[in-house]
Amino acid sequence: MKIVHSKRELRETLAPYRAGSIGFVPTMGYLHDGHLSLMSTARARCETVVASIFVNPLQFGPNEDLDVYPRDTSGDTEKARDAGVDVLWMPESAQIYHDGHGTIVKVAHLTDHLCGAHRPGHFDGVTTIVAKLLNTVGPTYAFFGQKDYQQLAVVRRMVRDLDFPVEIAAVPTVRESDGLAMSSRNVFLSNSDRAAAGEIIRGLCAAHEQFSAGERRAARLVETVSAQIRRSGRAEVDYVECVDALTLEGLVEVSPQGDAVIAVAARFGSVRLIDNILLDQPAPAFTGSEP
Ligand code: PAF
Repeated sequence: MKIVHSKRELRETLAPYRAGSIGFVPTMGYLHDGHLSLMSTARARCETVVASIFVNPLQFGPNEDLDVYPRDTSGDTEKARDAGVDVLWMPESAQIYHDGHGTIVKVAHLTDHLCGAHRPGHFDGVTTIVAKLLNTVGPTYAFFGQKDYQQLAVVRRMVRDLDFPVEIAAVPTVRESDGLAMSSRNVFLSNSDRAAAGEIIRGLCAAHEQFSAGERRAARLVETVSAQIRRSGRAEVDYVECVDALTLEGLVEVSPQGDAVIAVAARFGSVRLIDNILLDQPAPAFTGSEP
């Protein structure tokens, strides 16, 4: 695996491989099995695999966790190598954002909902950095996790609207044995919050089961998830919403085909977690016990 820092080095490294397929996995590092699953999916599909590690300041709000976002450069390097990454790009902030950077990529409508409504400017930061990363890497495919369902939808819309010559591939959420979605932020959960956070997926699965049994009222499904999370006694919920899978607009009733997503954001202590379940796909399987 080759490690590169500058954009020029990255472009020179990739030049001989442009005739074949290039798979790209953008990350903010502190790699876990969710990232590794993106990398191994890219490995299986593409001739050359590029991953980036860049903690993007533009997508963090003023009171968010940019300064304490977990970092582990040597651990990440090992994990990326083991996952079959060919080129690991680790740029410095100054190489990404020039003095006086003044261009923001903004996707309208989709960003009005869910996390977009609770984290002003967050998705503008995501789309701006993803546009820059895609322009520099020039991949054939870019891989994004379904855990960040809204991010995936927003990036897909940007790519479609701005004619980026790349295919965005979605990779299913990877979970701990009790179902908690893997996230770099899980490391900050206290033991009690870690145990309590398992209620998110239990609530989502209970709502999925209810939908499968015929419940179509979005409010009922949302209440099932909310009640389960409340049971933990430790969560401060930002939102639980049942939204259209394409537009992300809130639903009153889910169609029998289940083209809807139930999405959650909740804080356990200082840690904000997100998760979701797609009603037109099988519910995730997990053992139920904490790791
Ligand atoms: O999902 C992430 O880790 C980030 O939002 C991304 C896509 C790497 C952009 O900074």
